[in-house]
Amino acid sequence: MVLSEFGEVWLPDAFRSMVGAVSEFEAVEALEAPSRVLRRLKAGMGVVLYGPYPYVDGVYRYCQRFGKQLVDPDAFPEIGNRFERMAARTAARKQGLHRLFVVAEGEELVRVGDTPQITGWTQWLEEPFRGQRILIPVRRLQRILTDMRRMKEGLRIDALSDTITVLPHVYIPSDQSVINMFTNKRAEIAGKRVLDMGTGTGVLALLAARLGASEVTASDNNPNAVENARLNVRRLGMEDGVRVCGPSDLFSGLQGAVFDVILFNAPWVLGKATTLYDRAIYDEGYALIRRFFASVGDHLAVKGRILLQYSNISELKGEGSISHLKEVISEAGLEIGDVARVRRKSRVLGGWETVFLFEIERRKWVK
Ligand SMILES: C[S@@+](CC[C@H](N)C(=O)[O-])C[C@H]1O[C@@H](n2cnc3c(N)ncnc32)[C@H](O)[C@@H]1O
Repeated sequence: MVLSEFGEVWLPDAFRSMVGAVSEFEAVEALEAPSRVLRRLKAGMGVVLYGPYPYVDGVYRYCQRFGKQLVDPDAFPEIGNRFERMAARTAARKQGLHRLFVVAEGEELVRVGDTPQITGWTQWLEEPFRGQRILIPVRRLQRILTDMRRMKEGLRIDALSDTITVLPHVYIPSDQSVINMFTNKRAEIAGKRVLDMGTGTGVLALLAARLGASEVTASDNNPNAVENARLNVRRLGMEDGVRVCGPSDLFSGLQGAVFDVILFNAPWVLGKATTLYDRAIYDEGYALIRRFFASVGDHLAVKGRILLQYSNISELKGEGSISHLKEVISEAGLEIGDVARVRRKSRVLGGWETVFLFEIERRKWVK
């Protein structure tokens, strides 16, 4: 599309799904009253901001603060399930906020002054878009700037009394309460051979080592996660305690290996991942959790146990995730023992969810 203020600009596919349908695009100076910008977003328009970055930021913050106005509180009456309706409203509100754009060309923002330090931000894009002017949602750019800060300064993890670094496209373990659930499992982990499946930044593998595991293996299929876990193992000086393998799909890189404890903070939302980052969260058709349980028995010591972290958000939406989980556990000849839980606000779908830490063992009568 052509905007007179910018010439030819292009909305990459990676952002198209974030913004939904856009009725029209308009370039607006960021000095304009934010309430008028919000009104345009509410009408389904895409607003492309230019001017000093602090004003761009101010407009975004205003729209975020009053973001509830972007969606009619009675929207989606046709959706019967309360949680699904809430998720649809959250998604619509996020789409509205994502319709606030700036234009970027390579590493630079176009017609935006006083920009913060953004060199290197394009590493967080799925494609680099060299030589083209692209529209980037301000919300996405703000997230990237936070991620850049986190990569540089590290993310504080209370359970480790330390900071870890988080690389682009790797799951951000920002919810401390969820990590803390594992600290209560010291007795199960100390002195044991532990596998951390889907290790991401390596946070749980590092925690297992700190809790006294005799040896820890960490694995992931995301190449950035493997690199990230290795980086954090070095950062915390734990090369002797944690071995990072992969990238490999589930157990494919662990042929013949057996563990006393297998940790898995599994992707927990039913749905299709569209980005590398989303593969940490979405499990299409529950195929991943099914495949995990189909082969975990080959890698579990006779008296071994699995510590599986899983949320009930897809169950609440009527998609049966917990009932399905119980089914696959039983089909694998395993059973659930102790269950710990925490409640948290779902960052992905809005509304409250319960995150479980299931302790899973072989069924007593199975050899
Ligand atoms: C919810 S994240 C958990 C990350 C980390 N363990 C934590 O607690 O912060 C799920 C992880 O599983 C990984 N994963 C997804 N599919 C996988 C597969 N087929 N094989 C191995 N790892 C996978 C993702 O890359 C992601 O790092």
